[in-house]
Amino acid sequence: MPPAPRKAIFPVGGLGTRFLPVTKALPKEMLPVVDKPLIQYAVEEARAAGIEEFIFVTGRGKSAIEDHFDHSYELRDTLMARDKKAELDALEDMLLEPGQVAYIRQQEPLGLGHAVWCARHMIHGEPVAVLSADDLVLSEVPCLKQVIDAYMEVGGNLAAVMDVPREHTDRYGILDVVADDGRLVEARGLVEKPAPADAPSTLSIIGRYILDPTVFDELGRQETGAGGEIQLTDAMARTIGRVPFHGLRFEGRRFDCGSKAGFLEANVAYALERDDLRAEMREIVRRYADPAEG
Ligand code: UTP
Repeated sequence: MPPAPRKAIFPVGGLGTRFLPVTKALPKEMLPVVDKPLIQYAVEEARAAGIEEFIFVTGRGKSAIEDHFDHSYELRDTLMARDKKAELDALEDMLLEPGQVAYIRQQEPLGLGHAVWCARHMIHGEPVAVLSADDLVLSEVPCLKQVIDAYMEVGGNLAAVMDVPREHTDRYGILDVVADDGRLVEARGLVEKPAPADAPSTLSIIGRYILDPTVFDELGRQETGAGGEIQLTDAMARTIGRVPFHGLRFEGRRFDCGSKAGFLEANVAYALERDDLRAEMREIVRRYADPAEG
């Protein structure tokens, strides 16, 4: 059995251009779903999956992320003075232990693969998880936990995958499938953002990966792919033959929070999951679904 990944990389160096103007001064990963920023969902998921080291690859204008995971003494004192214990506990709970967090700067946003490569000196030849905060997964078992459990069965490179409509293949990394047992899929190749007519399947990779250390050697070649960016899927694809690549059809509902519609849908879905908001939210959704009644 391979060793369980203990480290996770959170690439948060992108510009978030699809969300301008809000992302001019606010990192996309700090956009809230209900009352929690996207990046906090990702960190909580990683923690619940047993991750012990959290490596953020940041960029210009992303310091709000560092502040978010740090102590805020003024806030703590104010909450204590006002006897707001629940809020105080929630803030204390989300803090990571000293030494568990590292921030590395991606000086230029050259792509997801480049962001991951920037963390290479912290990996020391271990398998590592990568979580993209803009893929949010609502599930009973945290998505990364499902991915790690599958990795413990097959090792190599692994990513969470899901079927997408054929007309959307040009938005994702797509698997060229060689074997499929309905849960785990083995790929003989990966294609980044293929046109629907050229896509070898409709199985798309979402932002939950376990990387074999060989991927960092491939990333080191700095080869650019789709969109002129250094793509993580291209580097993983080049290791196939030396290292197996599996996709895991995970259990859960995934929201593409890198797109406006996906982000808005996530807010509705997560609000409907909350006891304190469900009734009001249902009423709001009903009203908008049938404007004649509003
Ligand atoms: P996206 O592909 O969604 O790019 O990145 P983006 O720049 O964030 O957003 P748009 O497309 O301009 O709206 C997916 C994840 O990879 C990170 C992003 O921060 C995001 O979490 N990323 C992307 C980097 O860390 N560095 C990069 O160079 C590109």
